[in-house]
Amino acid sequence: MLIAKGFIPTVALDVMNAVHDEEIRLLNELDVLIGKREAGEDVDAELGALISELLNHVEYHFSNEERMMREAGIPVYPIHKSEHDRVRAEMQSFCADWRSEEGFAAFSYYIRQTLPEWFSGHVGTMDTVTALILSQNMS
Ligand SMILES: [Fe+2]
Ligand SMILES: [Fe+2]
Repeated sequence: MLIAKGFIPTVALDVMNAVHDEEIRLLNELDVLIGKREAGEDVDAELGALISELLNHVEYHFSNEERMMREAGIPVYPIHKSEHDRVRAEMQSFCADWRSEEGFAAFSYYIRQTLPEWFSGHVGTMDTVTALILSQNMS
């Protein structure tokens, strides 16, 4: 398994944890398909579909957090949003060229190394702070 449960910190808001769990599930599934493709299996159709699913899910994840922050008037919103925007652009570019040999190597590294590390760090910092403020606003 690429990302074990517990690698991504738990935050103070369950709706955010549920979205993070779903993203972990998608990344773990992607890791399996990447392994099959490396072993010579033709999984391109499944992989293409799963990459689209990941991109849609990440967009839902980020825009939902941004909406909650705007609605609550959280001051760190611009910093959190700009970090989401940076990763949106980065992810789009690594996911655009996975069918070529070079592109697939870069894509695999991104999914298996870069993204899990970023995800853990981001949830442990910006999402943790955001969830804490949101949960205090709600109570
Ligand atoms: Fe998040
Ligand atoms: Fe976030």
